[in-house]
Amino acid sequence: MPTSEPRSSAVSLFESTFKHAPTAVATAPGRVNIIGEHIDYTGGFVMPIAIARHTVCAGSLAPETGELLLEAVSLDRPNEPVRLPLGDLIAGRSSGWGAYVAGVLSQCAGSSLPPRGVRLAFASSVPVGAGLSSSAALEVSTALVVNALLGESKPPAEVAKACRRAEHEFAGVPCGIMDQYISCMAVEENALFIDCVSETHRAVPIPHEVTFVIADTGKHHELSKGEYAERRASCERALAMIRKARDPYRSLRHCTLSDLGVPGIDPVDRKRARHAISECARVLATEQAFVGKRWSQAGDLMRQSHASLRDDYEVSCDELNTLADLLNATPGVHGARMTGAGFGGCVIALVHASRADEICEQLLAAGASRLVFQTRPAGAARLETLG
Ligand code: GLA
Repeated sequence: MPTSEPRSSAVSLFESTFKHAPTAVATAPGRVNIIGEHIDYTGGFVMPIAIARHTVCAGSLAPETGELLLEAVSLDRPNEPVRLPLGDLIAGRSSGWGAYVAGVLSQCAGSSLPPRGVRLAFASSVPVGAGLSSSAALEVSTALVVNALLGESKPPAEVAKACRRAEHEFAGVPCGIMDQYISCMAVEENALFIDCVSETHRAVPIPHEVTFVIADTGKHHELSKGEYAERRASCERALAMIRKARDPYRSLRHCTLSDLGVPGIDPVDRKRARHAISECARVLATEQAFVGKRWSQAGDLMRQSHASLRDDYEVSCDELNTLADLLNATPGVHGARMTGAGFGGCVIALVHASRADEICEQLLAAGASRLVFQTRPAGAARLETLG
């Protein structure tokens, strides 16, 4: 995985594979979520940042004489080139990493086929499977290039939604909007407080006295179907019972913990909904703590979020708990929690900026994690069109 310069790697890969230059290059960031976990799909609030790690897509249309194919190569998957007739991809016949690319191309093209074949090459510094949204970075970089190749200019919010549809329909993951939204809309040096009902945001400045340390457990999750979809279904069932007893509620974010007392909610669904309701309140409080620079309060809220994900939502695991506990006991850490979908992946810590280097070194020296890095909030995905 080229962590240094994915842009030049993607362009070189494109040129060596297709023997001509790309006409468009897009760079899309991964993300880390500060707080607001598993509540984008319950109509809650989330507060992610884009990280300074990116996926780059270099692309062009195939020559006019070429076949009508989607051809895609990735430095991360040298043995899995994608080669699909465009007709097949509109029908959704693709698998593996190609499903994300095919899904996005299909969403961007709509019901019409691109006029010529589409050639794409990818390189990335976003670790795959670590819960840092490598799939959204892949989707968003693909969408920006494909839209440019099709001569379309779409607002970033539309791009985010098209990428989410691709993930639902082609990759089979019923995700919320957070990952694609932050990759498309991130503001440098800011977190985004995203309202997942109106799909709008406000920027929350991150002052330089704090920064974020991200540590990977090394246990990599497969964010697919099973557990994720089950959590979502649990929340929907609990909401349906609450709506039945106490109309009108639009989403769990309008509910209070007392609503969980309505009859008929399954005990497991009740725990899941308790997380969804309590996490919403924590995101609102965390935003205020960041605005007021009350770091120990923000840290407490992050720890509470972790406990709720561990105990009520049951998406943590021993590796995440151990790493979060270790960070929470480390001087200079305001608060740490699991981040992303869970079952593995990364812990995020809000740390005092002057201690960040030392904290990263300590974690590495203790063998607590093999991938530890700090990041300031990065900017949104961007497109360059080349001559
Ligand atoms: C994944 C999904 C997001 C979100 C998180 C959990 O990253 O893609 O939509 O639900 O899990 O917060």
